Amino acid sequence: MTTTTASVATQPVSQRIAIALKSVSVLYPGHCQALSNVSLEIGAGEFVFIVGASGAGKSTLLKLLTHEESCTSGTIFVEGCDVSGMKVNQIPALRRRVGVVYQNFGLLPDRTVYENVAFAMRVTGAGRREVIRRLPEVLELVGLQSRPDAFPGQLSGGEQQRVAIARALVNRPSLLLADEPTGNLDPETSLGIVELLHDINATGATVLVATHDVAIVDRSARRVLEFADGVLVRDEACGRYGRGVLEDCGEAV
Ligand SMILES: Nc1ncnc2c1ncn2[C@@H]1O[C@H](COP(=O)(O)OP(=O)(O)O)[C@@H](O)[C@H]1O
Ligand SMILES: [Mg+2]
Repeated sequence: MTTTTASVATQPVSQRIAIALKSVSVLYPGHCQALSNVSLEIGAGEFVFIVGASGAGKSTLLKLLTHEESCTSGTIFVEGCDVSGMKVNQIPALRRRVGVVYQNFGLLPDRTVYENVAFAMRVTGAGRREVIRRLPEVLELVGLQSRPDAFPGQLSGGEQQRVAIARALVNRPSLLLADEPTGNLDPETSLGIVELLHDINATGATVLVATHDVAIVDRSARRVLEFADGVLVRDEACGRYGRGVLEDCGEAV
């Protein structure tokens, strides 16, 4: 027993499992089979794209990882926690460890950049001093240190997404989930956002990006999981959006 614990502790980060799904199915009311018998593992520190047509089950997969949706059958482990068997009072602690970013930013329009991020910290229980200490570093990380007093309406789409990413990072999550993070952005701005997600991944966080965006997937040369009608149909270590492995594997955006 002791030997097992010791060998796990000395494994490199990349070999630890951050996410494990075993035979997971999701059947929504109305008999919509959103995910069918999905089994997969994602190592800690990996950067993974989730691709597939609209309705393929990408968002459902991400929602399972924060217990926003629950599976009908199967088991889900997030960083060693059995999410599928989790009690309601354990969900806030899970969500503090997972940052989430969406397509439409979800910022409070009548609050400044600083207030939007501070609000996210306060609702997860951070004290005033902690907010004052953490806020400048997280705004600097996303490149918005000079805009703390701007309102969302005064920012470009790319800047608004950076605020949303800052908000997702305030609790230093070990896992960042992004659901179509470039869906409302032009191609050049999208590449900047993906670069930022790669930078966050380089600090050790596991990053999952659900996307329709061919350009960001093909330029990143990272692992691709493809879903079709709720079934995992492709898992490539260094994939394109479509089929076919990239030759210059490992070269990030
Ligand atoms: N809350 C829900 N209730 C019923 N059906 C849903 C719900 N959410 C998603 N679905 C259905 O589940 C399937 C997968 O949806 P989703 O995970 O959002 O796919 P994607 O993100 O790949 O577009 C779709 O057919 C969708 O209509
Ligand atoms: Mg979706």
